[in-house]
Amino acid sequence: MIGLFDSGIGGLTVVRELKRLLPGVALAYFGDTARTPYGNKSAEVISRYGLEATKFLVEKGCQLVVVACNTVSAVGLPAIRQAYPQLPLFDVITPAVSAVSRLPLKRKKVGVMGTRALVGSNIYQRLLAEVNGFTVVARAAPLLVPLVEEGWFDKPETKRLVRHYLRPFKQAQVEALVLACTHYPLLKEVIVSRLGKKITIIDPAMATAAAVVEWLKQHPGIDSRLERGSSRFYVSDLTDHTQTIAQKWLGQKITLERASLSLK
Ligand code: DGL
Repeated sequence: MIGLFDSGIGGLTVVRELKRLLPGVALAYFGDTARTPYGNKSAEVISRYGLEATKFLVEKGCQLVVVACNTVSAVGLPAIRQAYPQLPLFDVITPAVSAVSRLPLKRKKVGVMGTRALVGSNIYQRLLAEVNGFTVVARAAPLLVPLVEEGWFDKPETKRLVRHYLRPFKQAQVEALVLACTHYPLLKEVIVSRLGKKITIIDPAMATAAAVVEWLKQHPGIDSRLERGSSRFYVSDLTDHTQTIAQKWLGQKITLERASLSLK
């Protein structure tokens, strides 16, 4: 089985893309709704949470794990790799970096909008600026997360905040913007209407799903053993609101299950 996890249900944006490319493949998803958001927490705590989620999915029988959380992808991968050296592990940053590197940008100027922990990790600066000579403008936009969770995609308050958060990117005249938080792709329309069509939007969820499919093509042994059938969706805390928005974001009927794992 392919396992995916996130700090909450935002990672369903990655599930949605993966299901589009691999219909019929059974997925196991874990959303840590009891401890979300991760974006304002320390690297140490985020790494520990990432490890616990990976352990949960491996114990459920997943042979491949996708870290569908930008924050864990930014700071938690070394701990997971160390604990599970044999496990094929995907993150949402590497594919987004590859997607940016392939863009024909004249000035190589890229914006990254993410959580505080992701921006603080300087991961995009390291991967894009140091290796590929890009100029990276990275800013946190934490207030967008609760707005998206309330379903406020199109409200005047949301538009005002989006305008506020996009200002530094517009001022810096970035040529592309990475939506480096699971929730931001749900605001793509508002973002594009503010930025204009000339600025390319990179959605790590789409880039990651494509990277997983590509990897499976190169590993037919694993691909042929992947379970087909229905997917399971586990959360560490379950409420009616979570159930409702999870379905909305995924665009299909699902039943969330309360995961039995002990949280510290
Ligand atoms: N899922 C998180 C991410 O992509 C955003 C929400 C949070 O802060 O936990 O980084």
